[in-house]
Amino acid sequence: MTIPLKKSDPITVDVALGERSYDIVIGRGILPSLGERIAALRPGARVAVVTDACVATHWLQRAEASLTGAGLTTSRIVVDEGEVSKSYAGVEFVCEELIKARIERNDLVVALGGGVVGDLAGFAAAIVRRGVDFVQVPTSLLAQVDSSVGGKTGINSPQGKNLVGAFHQPILVVADTAVLDTLSPRQFRAGYAEVAKYGLIGDEAFFAWLEAHHADIVKGDAAREHAVATSCCAKAAIVARDERESGERALLNLGHTFGHALEAATGFCGRLYHGEGVSIGMVLAAELSAQLGMIAAADVSRIERHLAAAGLPTRLQDIAGFRQEGLADADALMTLMAQDKKVKRGRLTFILLKAIGQAVVSTDVEPSMVRDFLARKLADAPA
Ligand SMILES: NC(=O)c1ccc[n+]([C@@H]2O[C@H](COP(=O)([O-])OP(=O)(O)OC[C@H]3O[C@@H](n4cnc5c(N)ncnc54)[C@H](O)[C@@H]3O)[C@@H](O)[C@H]2O)c1
Ligand SMILES: [Zn+2]
Repeated sequence: MTIPLKKSDPITVDVALGERSYDIVIGRGILPSLGERIAALRPGARVAVVTDACVATHWLQRAEASLTGAGLTTSRIVVDEGEVSKSYAGVEFVCEELIKARIERNDLVVALGGGVVGDLAGFAAAIVRRGVDFVQVPTSLLAQVDSSVGGKTGINSPQGKNLVGAFHQPILVVADTAVLDTLSPRQFRAGYAEVAKYGLIGDEAFFAWLEAHHADIVKGDAAREHAVATSCCAKAAIVARDERESGERALLNLGHTFGHALEAATGFCGRLYHGEGVSIGMVLAAELSAQLGMIAAADVSRIERHLAAAGLPTRLQDIAGFRQEGLADADALMTLMAQDKKVKRGRLTFILLKAIGQAVVSTDVEPSMVRDFLARKLADAPA
């Protein structure tokens, strides 16, 4: 990571992947520099900007102005907002539009949006003409700290989330922290769960810093750039060591085995955002770790306290409508977890915690133990 000379200078995080290495540039108000940064990498390229209808109203014109100002030819592909676009129909639409816009091997796709646009545009870039380059311009907190880094792209299958995709690294990530000012507070908080995750999996000092500074991150002080940069550094380091997730990269899934099952049980809708499911999932993972004698109960409480202080749900009972409609029962949640990719030969893979800042991959968790644990959690009396 480069330390800025002036407070206002952007921070650069290097993702070290040999010939697929790239920079993540992080700073407040750097969107206008997008065009010159891209022109420096691909002078004269044709650029197709993929975005969603909501992000388009806030940021598309500014992004396009920067690109054309740098002498680049642009076209725009606007998809519907939300997870619904991460579908076969969505990728067909984007691919056809890219072909129509005559995006060829030396041209570029720019993904301007949250994780949905990044995953969808990145996947389309991976398969159109057997791969064209792409640049991530993440506009949600989740996308800035997580989905825009690391090269996982893809869409959902009717049978499950992210089941169709490709590894395709971007050639550049430009994260302007000012664009987060237009994000809804609830989406911001959901993305924050992934920030806290980096503290939990490998950096106790960062977790302690977050406990003290999370309100400044929301406000948009320099703390925001620090949080995004520290998160990107953590992810970049893990991805550089394990690009294809054969081992350590799985740590990034802390809270996600439970979280994905909860998202599926609530129908992948506004009832529970991804980061909210991850927040509850991280607390469940911590509690399961405590039950296995791995982490102290006081640390579990500290994790729950911080996530709750950040305005995130931490218990199953916090899920909207839980008191009225309940949720799936423990067996149904187990079935949903078994459909997740984190299952090998009947044993569940869980990311467990030994301490705050010390996560481990456990590939041998006994399903019946998890089922009983979940049944107890579902039966916990609402506060
Ligand atoms: N590829 C990966 O490694 C990876 C990692 C984590 C998550 N993901 C994927 O990311 C997706 C979730 O990403 P997300 O939470 O960013 O969802 P999202 O892309 O749907 O964005 C959330 C909402 O915020 C809006 N939005 C985004 N930026 C905005 C801005 N600056 N101002 C106003 N509104 C804005 C969007 O229009 C959308 O309605 C999921 O599909 C998940 O599977 C991928
Ligand atoms: Zn996540």
